[in-house]
Amino acid sequence: MTYQFNNQAREIEINKYSTPTPWMNYLSNGTFHTMISQAGGGVAFYRSPQIWRINHYRFFHLPTDRSGFYTYIKDGGDVWCPTNEPCKTKPETWKAAHGMGYTRFEAGRNGVHAVATYFVGKYENALIWNLKLKSETDKKITLFPYVELGMMEFMRELQWQCYNKHQLSAYAIDDVLVYRYGVETQPKPEETPLVYFAADVPVTAFDCDRDEFVGAYRSEENPQNVEAGGCTNSTLYGGDPCFALQIDLELKAGEEREVNIFLGTAMTEEEIKRCVSHCREKGFVETSYAALSAQWADFLRKFQCELPDADVQTMVNIWNPYQAERNFQFSRNISYYATGTFRGVGVRDTAQDILAMVPFDLCRAKDKLNLLLGQQYRDGHCNHYCFPIEGWEPLARIHSDNHLWLVMAAYHIVMEEGTLDYLEEAVDFYDGGSATVWEHIKKSIDFTMANLGEQGFPLMLASDWNDMLYKVCREGKGESIWTSMQFGTVLHQIAELADRMGENGQKYLDIYEAQKKLVNEKAWDGAWYRRCITDDGTFIGSAAEPQAKIWLNTQSWSVISGMGAYGKAAMDSVKQYLDTDLGIKKIHPSMMTDYPTKEGNLTCYNKGCGENGSVFCHANTWAIIAECLLKRPERAYKYYHQLLPMVAQAKAGEWRYKAEPYVYSSNIFGPESDKFGLANVSWLTGTAAWMYLAVTQYMLGIRPNWDGLEIDPCLTAQMLPAKVTRVFRGCTYHITITKNERAFIPHETGREEFEITI
Ligand code: NOJ
Repeated sequence: MTYQFNNQAREIEINKYSTPTPWMNYLSNGTFHTMISQAGGGVAFYRSPQIWRINHYRFFHLPTDRSGFYTYIKDGGDVWCPTNEPCKTKPETWKAAHGMGYTRFEAGRNGVHAVATYFVGKYENALIWNLKLKSETDKKITLFPYVELGMMEFMRELQWQCYNKHQLSAYAIDDVLVYRYGVETQPKPEETPLVYFAADVPVTAFDCDRDEFVGAYRSEENPQNVEAGGCTNSTLYGGDPCFALQIDLELKAGEEREVNIFLGTAMTEEEIKRCVSHCREKGFVETSYAALSAQWADFLRKFQCELPDADVQTMVNIWNPYQAERNFQFSRNISYYATGTFRGVGVRDTAQDILAMVPFDLCRAKDKLNLLLGQQYRDGHCNHYCFPIEGWEPLARIHSDNHLWLVMAAYHIVMEEGTLDYLEEAVDFYDGGSATVWEHIKKSIDFTMANLGEQGFPLMLASDWNDMLYKVCREGKGESIWTSMQFGTVLHQIAELADRMGENGQKYLDIYEAQKKLVNEKAWDGAWYRRCITDDGTFIGSAAEPQAKIWLNTQSWSVISGMGAYGKAAMDSVKQYLDTDLGIKKIHPSMMTDYPTKEGNLTCYNKGCGENGSVFCHANTWAIIAECLLKRPERAYKYYHQLLPMVAQAKAGEWRYKAEPYVYSSNIFGPESDKFGLANVSWLTGTAAWMYLAVTQYMLGIRPNWDGLEIDPCLTAQMLPAKVTRVFRGCTYHITITKNERAFIPHETGREEFEITI
């Protein structure tokens, strides 16, 4: 087996370095971040990977997963790395483990044993490499910790490195290496940090010039200076920089030596000195590591469960909330699949990510939602992406769904907190003026009302949730039936909030009823709900159409919104036409590139891939929720279980599935592809937040409402009995569910513990 979960330690242990794709982890303290693979490849960045990227990572180039955070161990004529990669000479024993905010490698060769733990602690903005070394016999070895640096702005590097690289410098101040990104016209020079590299043991020599260290026609596989046995104290004032240290160590038989390496950022050379001496203080690394463990224990304790299904338990307690948190933090910015060059904070995606942060950290959830509300205009629409760190102009395209997600996120915050206080907070509009959160979200509703199409559904505008649908509305007349359902869902939420705010909730319910009527009269196709209407009035997602006859989202959301008079039948059609046993396809059948017309084609995706007929995991979560609302636990469990990453990976096969078995992917190629089962775009996907909601709030059924905790389980025998600990409004609830029966626990101020069995 390539891997096993060690849930006690909240780790996944990986026994083989050559996984089909790099299996990543994200290490972060909120300011300094590192993505690192099971083979030590990856990329570090300060705040933004777009403008403050620290090292090179060569996306989709071969060999894969280079470069990274390597320590060469030179033991006589032998050179190897605890990360296994990038040396040809491999350790004799090896395993990696990804844990909560850290990654560890345990390796041995020729009687030398190394444990290398990488993490980012909260006390300094630095990636810490903690190396513990032991030898069975007395030995002299040399360590060469190494990072290949690059231009901090990756896009500029691709375009302009021939000139701009001569504005970089890397040099030593005593035994600390420093990198300065001196490139002119960078967006925020005054906020650009210096990067440092230091050890807490004596350093014999160093290199800052990559070509000096690596040598001609070589790579990180066999650097020349490692082979030669020593660095050459090269500095770099223009060219291709790196950080390499030479550390000569004497190991006594059986004795453990500890070496710490710090790859960090600071604003000035003075500050670097302060940071490095702090890092070198006795106990600094242990304290940082202990704080990291405590922070994750505290985060995860907010929702823990015991279930008969071990895979579900692993995901609910550990990996799903962990992924959701990383996703909340990085939006869709940088991953093995996304180069982190253009996507800032997407309003649609981030608003959904907030939903899973709400039970864990209301402050972070509110801060993020305030950021998004700040992208809203006075007429209620909002920018599509913004770049709060980089300070670039936002992407101002108007989509039909973005602003409506803001209502949902605010509603979740209010229900978790049980007060209206948040709605009274003031947030500026993007185009000037300020209003309370409450006024903002009412504007969202107004905007959709002001933008209804000829048939009465919301205009599609520059697409709804489905990016691909921008093509049906280029003349601005296309309408989205799905957005009508999303609108319906949030109309119910805002109506409830309006009543609590002492305003007229009924007016929102009236709009809801009108939209509901439309959905059932105009969008019902006979066995499912149609998807949208093109500029010329054609209904997409209809049995009468030659392709893409049925779409998942209008079936699931007909139930979620409560609008679908035929919701049950619609979800039966999902089972019949879209379920593959390896997830539910987004559409069926996949489209050709000539549909609906050659000139106005909806997709360029190959059949079964990506947005065209793959299993779109994000959208699967809504089918699970819909089945729970329909009280069909067998179906809900099937849809949930088959997409658990370890289950889907085992079913598809490790080499076919390729992605990580511990985090969700965005999509899995569908049966119309020749690579059915290939998982794509793991880690940064809305699947994480919604899977978490699906299982905790709909299958386990533990949902906050205004008065307390509602328990409305929809579980099969595989999930019963379920024991849940949920922290809610300062009280720890111990909930044992033995059957699918509804219960309600009113919130009582001052109560600290509560136990209930259903
Ligand atoms: C991925 C995008 O990040 C998201 O915004 C979109 O909703 C889905 N693709 C579906 O198109």
